[in-house]
Amino acid sequence: MPEYEYGQKEPMENEAMVRTLDAQARAIWPQEKKFLKRIFTRPGLEALDVGCGTGEISSRIAREFSTKHVTGIDLAESHIRLAKKRFDGIAGVSFQQADATTMPFEDDTFDIALCRHMLQAIPKPLAVIKEMIRVIKPGGWLYSLAEDYGMLFFHPTKYDMDEFFGEYGGKAAAKAGSDLRHGRKMPSVLASLKCVDVEVNYLCIDTLRVDRNLLADIFVHWRDGFEEWISTNSGKSLEEVRNRFDDMIDCTRGKDSYAVWLIPSISARVTAEAKHATSRG
Ligand SMILES: C[S@@+](CC[C@H](N)C(=O)[O-])C[C@H]1O[C@@H](n2cnc3c(N)ncnc32)[C@H](O)[C@@H]1O
Repeated sequence: MPEYEYGQKEPMENEAMVRTLDAQARAIWPQEKKFLKRIFTRPGLEALDVGCGTGEISSRIAREFSTKHVTGIDLAESHIRLAKKRFDGIAGVSFQQADATTMPFEDDTFDIALCRHMLQAIPKPLAVIKEMIRVIKPGGWLYSLAEDYGMLFFHPTKYDMDEFFGEYGGKAAAKAGSDLRHGRKMPSVLASLKCVDVEVNYLCIDTLRVDRNLLADIFVHWRDGFEEWISTNSGKSLEEVRNRFDDMIDCTRGKDSYAVWLIPSISARVTAEAKHATSRG
C-alpha cells in the first residue's frame, strides 16, 4: 500500500488513541445509534466504516442493525490488527488496511458509508468524501460524525478553553494541514457536492447526560495522546499544554461543574447527480 503521510498520524495511532476510541464509543454510541436509524432503515444493508480505528463502531453497527456486512478500513496497521483480534467471530464484520483517499472498492458497492472522528484530522477530507460518494450506491447514504473543536465548553475553568482549542490545538492542526473546525462545514460541503436530504443532529455529550468520569477519562486519553504533539506543533511548552488539559479534566470531574462536547451527526443521501458531479473531479 502506498504510504500516505499526514501530520496527526502518530497521535492517531498511539496507545492512548486505543483508550480514546473505547471511551468515546461508550459515551457517544447510546445517543448516536438513535440517529443512525434514519439510514439503517432495514436489515441486510452493506456498510463501509471509513477510518474504523479499532473497530468499536463497525462491530456495534453489525450488532445493532443486523447488517449484511460491515467492512472496516483504516490506514493504521496496528488498529486493524486489534480490530481483527477483538471482533473476528462477529458474523458479517471484516477489517482491512486501506487508504480512504483511494479505496480498493468498485463504484456503487455499499448502501451506506460512515466516517467518524476522522475528517478533522486529515489534510484531504474532500478526497475522502468524494471516494465515499463513489463507492456508495445511487440513493445510498453518507454519514459523518464530524468533529469541531469550537463546540466544546467548560465552566468553571482557570484557563480560557476557547483559546486552548484555537491557539494550541487549532494551531498545531493547521500546521499539520488539518482543520479542527471541519464539523460546521460538512453540511454545506455535502450540499455543494449535490447530496440531498442533509440532516444534522447534535450529540450532546455533557456532564448531565453522560457519566462525568467517563467524559473526564476521554479528556485524560486526549491529553496522553496529544499533549506532546500539540506542544511541538503549537510552540507552547508541554507544561502549558498539560495545565490546560488538566484544567479541562478537573472541571469535568467537579461535582457542580459543567462540561459539554457537541458533535454534529450528519447524514445525506447520495444521488446519481452527486456521483456524476464528483466523478468529474
Ligand atoms: C479518531 S480515529 C476514529 C476511529 C473510528 N472511526 C471510531 O470512531 O472509533 C481516526 C482514524 O482515522 C484513520 N485514518 C486517518 N487517515 C486515514 C486514511 N487516509 N485512510 C484510512 N484511515 C485513516 C486513523 O488511522 C484513525 O484510526
